[in-house]
Amino acid sequence: MSSSNSVTAEITLEKLLKDIESLEAVVATWDEHERITVAALKRAIDDLNKEALTRVIRSLKNTPAAMTALKESTADEVVYSVLRHHGLIKPSLHERIEQALDSVRPMLQGHGGNVELVSIDLPSTAVVRLIGACSGCPASELTLSEGVEKAIKEYCPEITEIVKAKGICTSSDTPVNFVSPFARGQDKKWVFAVEFEQLPEDKLVVCEVEGQSVILARLENNVVCYQNACAHLGMPLDMGEVSAGVLKCPYHSFEYLLKSGECLTVPEVQLQTHAVRVVDNRVEVSLS
Ligand code: FES
Repeated sequence: MSSSNSVTAEITLEKLLKDIESLEAVVATWDEHERITVAALKRAIDDLNKEALTRVIRSLKNTPAAMTALKESTADEVVYSVLRHHGLIKPSLHERIEQALDSVRPMLQGHGGNVELVSIDLPSTAVVRLIGACSGCPASELTLSEGVEKAIKEYCPEITEIVKAKGICTSSDTPVNFVSPFARGQDKKWVFAVEFEQLPEDKLVVCEVEGQSVILARLENNVVCYQNACAHLGMPLDMGEVSAGVLKCPYHSFEYLLKSGECLTVPEVQLQTHAVRVVDNRVEVSLS
């Protein structure tokens, strides 16, 4: 093997990106004027490369064999990354599925769960795994169909089947009352609970909705609603102390994140969530 071939074999995308990152870290320490100049230089070089690559692709367009070879070359991670960087090829299926999962992750993470892509079975199946709280949640089927599936199908219309892989169940033996973060069916029954203005910031309001005691809290412009029952022994939480977005049970001090109901003391349990909406100053609850 020639020496130039052995040098080429050592060049990887990871190494090339690392070199760029190291230089960017150096530039980040420079003063603003120098950083602006470097950014402008980078843009100018990018523009030049993009224009050259665009012209190459354009010149190959009328030669089907050349276009096939070009498409095949995108299997190379360096070629793919550079063409993606310049917006000259569409995101790969894998990338689009990850984008879809990223779009639902904040919602899942707010409920102590997450999702990961396990595999893609071409041409039309994606296998995903619900992890964390979502894995052991009785509402996981709803989470999968209403949240994850919808997002994947929106980002990747060619994926028509989403299969759930077995997850790492963090709470298999623990009865946990979760409601799917995607439980927003049109056929829900909404019941008036309280006027929005009656909800003070960061304080609990207790209400009775259809014979059930619930607690409501306003967090900036968001309203959350939970069953008035601690996940420990089911004692009422309405006398609990709220501080810095954390609700503390007055009985044995279990702590909960008010924005998600996630338990900070025992992460495997969570407050039972009820869907809530605000319509013309009316806070309405749909019991789960
Ligand atoms: S009942 Fe709430 S911590 Fe025990």
